[in-house]
Amino acid sequence: MEDTAQMKNRPAAPDLLERLARIVGDKHLVTGGDKLRPYTEELRGRYHSECRAVALPAHSAQVAAVVECCAAAGVSIVPQGGNTGTMGGAVAHAGQVILNLARMNRVLEVDPVNYAMRVEAGCILANVQAAAAAHGRFFPLSLGAQGSCQIGGNLATNAGGINVLRYGNTRDLVLGLEAVLADGRIWDGLNSLRKNNTGYDLKNLLVGSEGTLGIITAATLKLFPAPLCRVVALAGLADAAAALALLGRLRDASSDRLSTFELMSDIAVQSAVKHIAGQTDPLRGRHRWYALIVADSTNQEGGDGGQSALRGEMEAGLARAMDDGVLQDAVIADSESQARRLVLLRENIVEAQQFEGGSIKHDVSVPVASVPEFIRRTHAAIKKAMPHARPYPYGHMGDGNIHFNISQPPDMDRQAFLDQWRPMNRLVHEIAHQLGGSFSAEHGVGITKLEEMKRYKDPVSLALYRRIKRALDPGDVLNPGKLNP
Ligand code: MLT
Ligand code: ZN
Repeated sequence: MEDTAQMKNRPAAPDLLERLARIVGDKHLVTGGDKLRPYTEELRGRYHSECRAVALPAHSAQVAAVVECCAAAGVSIVPQGGNTGTMGGAVAHAGQVILNLARMNRVLEVDPVNYAMRVEAGCILANVQAAAAAHGRFFPLSLGAQGSCQIGGNLATNAGGINVLRYGNTRDLVLGLEAVLADGRIWDGLNSLRKNNTGYDLKNLLVGSEGTLGIITAATLKLFPAPLCRVVALAGLADAAAALALLGRLRDASSDRLSTFELMSDIAVQSAVKHIAGQTDPLRGRHRWYALIVADSTNQEGGDGGQSALRGEMEAGLARAMDDGVLQDAVIADSESQARRLVLLRENIVEAQQFEGGSIKHDVSVPVASVPEFIRRTHAAIKKAMPHARPYPYGHMGDGNIHFNISQPPDMDRQAFLDQWRPMNRLVHEIAHQLGGSFSAEHGVGITKLEEMKRYKDPVSLALYRRIKRALDPGDVLNPGKLNP
């Protein structure tokens, strides 16, 4: 079988671009100039793509035709959504065609009775949420890039975000899929069944496969009742062990109605306050750790849609935790705008980190109960390896998913610091591994974590992955060189 390097160097059929233009239309085949940039420049500037062309099909049949055409020419395809991924999963090389799903952005149906909606893969996540809300339903996937990421990319990477604690990952939010396979066939698994025990779960094989097994073109998504009330709080804590204790207490106090429990280190919060216009720290003093907590409910008890009842439960839980010395301070938002500001604090710490110079990023998970030990050990190991490095941890504590990022020492050369990316990754991933964790919790593998796949993924899984890939894509047409080392 021809490998990726051979494919890259092989001249494609000379009329490939003409044929692709006939399929998607001249206007929707981008072959050069500035128009390529949204597809070839990656958000954080870590990767730059080259490609033969970017094809923007309008529907599944066009996707299938593009795949067939490229496969026949021996040209591989990089499926791409909003190009917001951070692991290089949508990065292409000069020989490849990028297939971007942006034009396939229709909400096909919202079915509030069945608590389901059908969407094309190129729908922007925020538009999916809004379409559900317009029908009194809730689509809970929520993450920083939701204004530009596409649901197809969320599915292909099994994205996480801030509501996983209550509603699960993207994988848990999908009922059915449609995908174009490497031979150009369209697989129609677009049902909306809650129960369907008829064989292998192809849907779950494709979710998280990062475009290597098929191109997801549409999905039936699971919807939930729209929350009627929401309580948002910020707590100041002495350490991660206290955060873990608070998480358990508030799950109990709120009858398990927490949707979000995000942990933020002091440096991350102070950085957002310093660098992001209008951002303030609503707590009185400084704390080593902060937790953003959201509880929501559809329970309508009381005359205000359940707001006072839920708030009462959260206040009581926080007060008890304060009396018992679990937390140092807390504030509950009094209005929707205050709530929004608290949530923004969490969102802003991601952007704020770029003002602190170079940053080495991590996306690990450990069992929730092991988060304090993971943080303690990782902090110590980083300080030992690079005493002036500034750990900048934050993350989805409720899911055991910590972004244990590191900001450069202020007086160090940025590039010299970034050159330590791999050794620092190794150090952090090793500790996560020792605690039974994962080196990739919600961002995927792409090309960034291929080495880690080789090192940490068990050989039986890797062998099965290779077989599955060979069975579904023997010509290595779909996103070669990604995910599978
Ligand atoms: C987050 O939790 O804010 C993101 O996953 C962090 C990131 O994009 O690096
Ligand atoms: Zn995250």
